[in-house]
Amino acid sequence: MPFAVDFNEKVVEVIKLNILVCGGAGYIGSHTVKKLLENNYDVTVLDNLEKGHEHSVKDVSLFNVNLLNKDNIDKIFINTKIDAVMHFAANSIVGESMERPEVYYNNNVVGTLNLLEIMQKHTVSKLIFSSTAAVYGAPKEIPITENHPKEPTNCYGATKLAVESMLNWFSHAYGLNYVSLRYFNAAGASKQGDIGEDHEPETHLIPLVLRTALGLRPEIKIFGTDYSTPDGTCVRDYIHVDDLADAHVLSLEYLLKGGHSTVFNLGNGKGFSVLEVINTAQRVVGKPIQRVYAERRSGDPAVLVASSDKIKKELGWTPKYTDLYKIIETAWNWHNKHPNGFGD
Ligand code: UFG
Repeated sequence: MPFAVDFNEKVVEVIKLNILVCGGAGYIGSHTVKKLLENNYDVTVLDNLEKGHEHSVKDVSLFNVNLLNKDNIDKIFINTKIDAVMHFAANSIVGESMERPEVYYNNNVVGTLNLLEIMQKHTVSKLIFSSTAAVYGAPKEIPITENHPKEPTNCYGATKLAVESMLNWFSHAYGLNYVSLRYFNAAGASKQGDIGEDHEPETHLIPLVLRTALGLRPEIKIFGTDYSTPDGTCVRDYIHVDDLADAHVLSLEYLLKGGHSTVFNLGNGKGFSVLEVINTAQRVVGKPIQRVYAERRSGDPAVLVASSDKIKKELGWTPKYTDLYKIIETAWNWHNKHPNGFGD
């Protein structure tokens, strides 16, 4: 929480902290911006609006800046008081990362290096970083804890792991304090249905299933039915985007109170198969959703389920959405109201 200062027991002035949110106009970024504002922080958003949407953020200063342009990042820090940084800006499509690794190393690794250099120049030492379950690669044990071996099987995961390593060295050299949050499968939308997921192209299961229900796609393809899982389809750990946003605010407060650099998984600890997701979505929308069986998608592990015990124990984080139906319901509320997403 921002600090309240009591002067003469009469005037209470609240000094608001200002958080720079890189990639704040994206899916998880915009939900976290909303949560920060609800928690009385000031927010400055940096976003190149390539994937992000201008209309996903309200009541903030929005700078259309690319992290590859160090001078422009510097200008924001020169002109704005920044107390801490949250960094969501990244390319995140696994398949694309395998075809265009240079784009991923440039935007995800070089972009973050630029940000870190400017933070160091302006002595801003607190950072919350968006990492991913993809840093682990094929799971050797389920649930996956933070100590699980890190052997990414795709370039996207490799770039996120490279950044985590960079954060560690900046921490040693310059006293950077960071929290790296490894998300499992982000899903859902804000309770009010005013913001939600809008990717172009969309590759994620739940929005594609709901777009099928809306008649915007003829069918949902089920990638692989011969996995060693109870129904043969892949199992994932779906975590609500508002629960991710809560974890960011808690991590920020942890750093503001002097917490040391650390890493946390973020998932529900419960897996659902692709078929279970489609069947649950059918119940949410109240009509059948056309599905077809298709080949496996390359690089998909059979099962990914998180252990989030560490953040629960250390920061008291508790996900509010533990029921897949309720997660999909919020996503449906958004997609149904906004079939064209933000329409930009
Ligand atoms: N799936 C389908 N049909 C589709 C889309 C997805 O069957 O049209 C399946 C996938 O094969 C997978 C599951 O649904 O088994 C979930 O797929 P998503 O694309 O929604 O999510 P991923 O699990 O592939 O990706 C997530 C994050 C990535 C992260 C990755 C780590 O979105 O950022 O987990 O493995 F890198």
